[in-house]
Amino acid sequence: MAEAFLGLKDKTRDFTGVAFHGLIQRKARASPPRDACGMSTPPMPLAVRVIRAEHDALAAMLRTVPLLLAAQRRAGSPANFDALRAMLFYVDEFPERLHHKKESELLFPKLRALAPEMRDTLDDLDADHAQGERAIRELQHSLLAWEQMGEPRRDKFEQQLKVYSARYLRHMKREETEILPHALRCFGAEDWAELDEAFGSHQDPLAPRAGQAVDAAYAPLRERILAALPAPFGWGPELAQGLSTLRQ
Ligand SMILES: [Fe+2]
Ligand SMILES: [Fe+2]
Repeated sequence: MAEAFLGLKDKTRDFTGVAFHGLIQRKARASPPRDACGMSTPPMPLAVRVIRAEHDALAAMLRTVPLLLAAQRRAGSPANFDALRAMLFYVDEFPERLHHKKESELLFPKLRALAPEMRDTLDDLDADHAQGERAIRELQHSLLAWEQMGEPRRDKFEQQLKVYSARYLRHMKREETEILPHALRCFGAEDWAELDEAFGSHQDPLAPRAGQAVDAAYAPLRERILAALPAPFGWGPELAQGLSTLRQ
């Protein structure tokens, strides 16, 4: 489960990504959840569901790609550079330009104003966002170097990808375990209305909302990525050495 990747194994979410049923499908709720006093709890704001769904999709991809590369290395099969370029383009196009931007420009400032004790955490996460664009450019360059210069440049790309993925996974986990719980305690209906509108206004092709079609303009990108990745995240055959090895 993607929740396990983020250390959120026991959380129940209600966002469903049709294509990622094996990894991020949410547990169905038979009835509204109730708190310790038996009172029904309000539904999770759309913005929180979008953020979590986008984290899940990205986490699943970041966890899967190194396994795929390792399997290809073992088998001596050529890398699919077309798909790898598509994946890095996706990270730049959605998580970096849309997801981060809305967090840094809307979610974080609201929390700064209401929860001063979160300042250091927010500073750290804003700094991650600020360096994210440079990091993805460097990764794209390393991939291009591997493609153009051959195997001697492969290790550098794989090492950079490992560092990038580890940082990103840590970043998302902090948002899920520190930022969102605080926001849920501090924000009022007006705050959530504004955030819901902002986060609901774009559609991440790897984190489609239940009942909503993937934006046709991004459908080929989504297909290119999912076709190249092994199950359960992608549409390819499951790897013999499965995802469980990455969770250790
Ligand atoms: Fe973020
Ligand atoms: Fe995030």
